[in-house]
Amino acid sequence: MLMGDEMQEDILQKAFESLWDIMEMEEAILQNKPVKSMLQDPQRQSESADQEGFLPDFSAVIRSVTGSISTGDADLLQDEAGTSAVEEAYSLIEESRRQEREKVHREKEQERKSHREKVEKLPEYVASCRTLEEIAWKVSECTRCQLCETRKRAVPGNGVVNPKVMIIGEAPGAEEDASGEPFVGRAGKYLDTWMGAIKLFRGRDLFIGNIIKCRPPGNRDPLPDEQKACIPFLRRQIRILRPKAILCVGRIAAQILTRQDVGIGRMRGPVYRYEGIPLIVTYHPSAVLRNPESYRAPVWEDLQKLSAIIRDAGS
Ligand code: URA
Repeated sequence: MLMGDEMQEDILQKAFESLWDIMEMEEAILQNKPVKSMLQDPQRQSESADQEGFLPDFSAVIRSVTGSISTGDADLLQDEAGTSAVEEAYSLIEESRRQEREKVHREKEQERKSHREKVEKLPEYVASCRTLEEIAWKVSECTRCQLCETRKRAVPGNGVVNPKVMIIGEAPGAEEDASGEPFVGRAGKYLDTWMGAIKLFRGRDLFIGNIIKCRPPGNRDPLPDEQKACIPFLRRQIRILRPKAILCVGRIAAQILTRQDVGIGRMRGPVYRYEGIPLIVTYHPSAVLRNPESYRAPVWEDLQKLSAIIRDAGS
């Protein structure tokens, strides 16, 4: 049994260890890590015992304090800072954190629900648009997916009404995000040369847009919920535009509009139909810039096919 100074030392050592635990626990809470009382976790207790220096040595402080306190004070410490008081403090903190987490969870769930409702109602909301300008306006104020938080500008697409060809890419890149215009970067300039080669020009024959109207950070692939949130805008644009043909550049646009889940290499070739409109699939200009040896020839084939469709449509 411990007596006198030794007992006080022991009590204070426990108190300091508990204080240390509380600090650790607060740290865990602040970092959003699971909180586990070391006192209640035998595994951690034995781990910490194995780790030399895991708990700092408080003995010098304890000795200086024990020199000035009476046994009565030590009893008080036992009451105030002893194991059960600390455990009670733990459970109080845990409880308030649990309530806080539940509140955040409820709020997030509510947010998700209203977001889901908004996305589900999007087709009707967009269907009410009569003009491309109206769509562009709705796109510019859209907050239906997280991309609205990182975009500089939305890129609804632009060009002429009743175009010979509607070109559909994947999503804006950095330059499009900065300007609000589709395909204005390196890939866009290259795309212009493709179109020039079959005598089609922006401002006269084309409407250019994307599946996704806002730039995904780091140009990553658009996520399924971003695609779902955005696609009604494009579908409405196609209905208003009634292009003679559609050219999908790249896998994402091709997969979504042809409803196929295969690679672009296997998709290109046939003439598809989107609501009766002939649709051709080809590689994305960025991919061709990266690998011209492999992709230039097939793209040229696809462009000739597109050109023949326009010619046959009698324009
Ligand atoms: N790539 C795309 O798919 N779309 C753009 O608008 C620009 C680059």
